[in-house]
Amino acid sequence: GHHVSSQRMRSRRRELRTRHDITSFAPQFISIYESLTPSEEEKEKQKQLLQSLEKLIIKEWPNAQLHLYGSCANSFGASSCDIDVCLAISDGEIDKSKILLRLAEILQSDNLQDVQALTRARVPIVKLKDPATGISCDICINNILAVVNTKLLRNYSQIDHRLRQLVIIVKHWAKSRGVNDTYQGTLSSYAYVLMCIHFLQLRRPAILPCLQEMQPTYMVTVDGIECAFFDQVQKLEHFGSVNRESIAELLWAFFSYWAYHHDYANNVISVRTGGIISKQSKDWTRRIGNDRHLICIEDPFELSHDLGRVVDKFTIKILREEFERAAEIMQYDPNPSVRLFEPY
Ligand code: CTP
Ligand code: MG
Repeated sequence: GHHVSSQRMRSRRRELRTRHDITSFAPQFISIYESLTPSEEEKEKQKQLLQSLEKLIIKEWPNAQLHLYGSCANSFGASSCDIDVCLAISDGEIDKSKILLRLAEILQSDNLQDVQALTRARVPIVKLKDPATGISCDICINNILAVVNTKLLRNYSQIDHRLRQLVIIVKHWAKSRGVNDTYQGTLSSYAYVLMCIHFLQLRRPAILPCLQEMQPTYMVTVDGIECAFFDQVQKLEHFGSVNRESIAELLWAFFSYWAYHHDYANNVISVRTGGIISKQSKDWTRRIGNDRHLICIEDPFELSHDLGRVVDKFTIKILREEFERAAEIMQYDPNPSVRLFEPY
């Protein structure tokens, strides 16, 4: 299970690794990262599926648009990931259930497989599978905020390649260790991406800027929320280059931040401000309904939204033990790139 033999590891404290030692593991992490990233061929197949869906949908709703969001569009997808699609329909008041059911009908008659309308889910969707490519796809309606936060994440990934490396490796770790499942009270991939961005904003010298604190070049209002940030990221491609830390050093520091340095009792991490803010200032100091705020991750646009709210008093322990396990492995294990991803 999630257990650590920390006793044994602590007795080896003397062999504390230096930055130099850690960096010698970088090539191993890079090759794990490379084995996880999707091929061009895979990306091409996803694009083709999107285009064929577009054709079908335009026939029925001429003013509709399809947007990709989530890991297939934010650059943090591992290979063979499913695609998340948002159908944007702007015709005033709409009945989502009705549209989803009609959409399912259309897709079914086009021979797509396993078509299913989940109209009662928290985010109602139609699921389908493309028999030609084997790619699965979820289609939701008018979830424009997700499309916009996907763009923010992608823009961050275009500033420094170490963000993509860090996220893909952290997601792989979280999936291997069973701590990437909101239904089980652990964190979503989206939450892990925000944790990684925040972490790189806080490195000194900083590896990432805070795009929402800069002069905005991209502005939209979605569901009454103003989303504004600097998106001319090609101008920032050297931003992080003063900082020479390797991916191995960053992983080590990331896990030790969440294991030993984060102040869970008082702090909220905030990509929006590029720093840490207090639970007090958000009024996230006590449990309200099901939101417990035991680990606080502010959504960059939906400011009342704590992505850590799914974590409860049992799963916070599991999470923190996993961060400690990972930090200790990075510090002491002779083979960190193997042990880190051992199935739990
Ligand atoms: N999202 C969101 N709010 C959440 C969770 C997710 O807005 N609380 C949106 C984000 O746009 C995110 C997308 O839904 O990019 C998909 O979320 P998730 O499945 O957690 O992330 P992926 O990047 O798709 O990761 P995975 O590869 O694990 O599917
Ligand atoms: Mg996803």
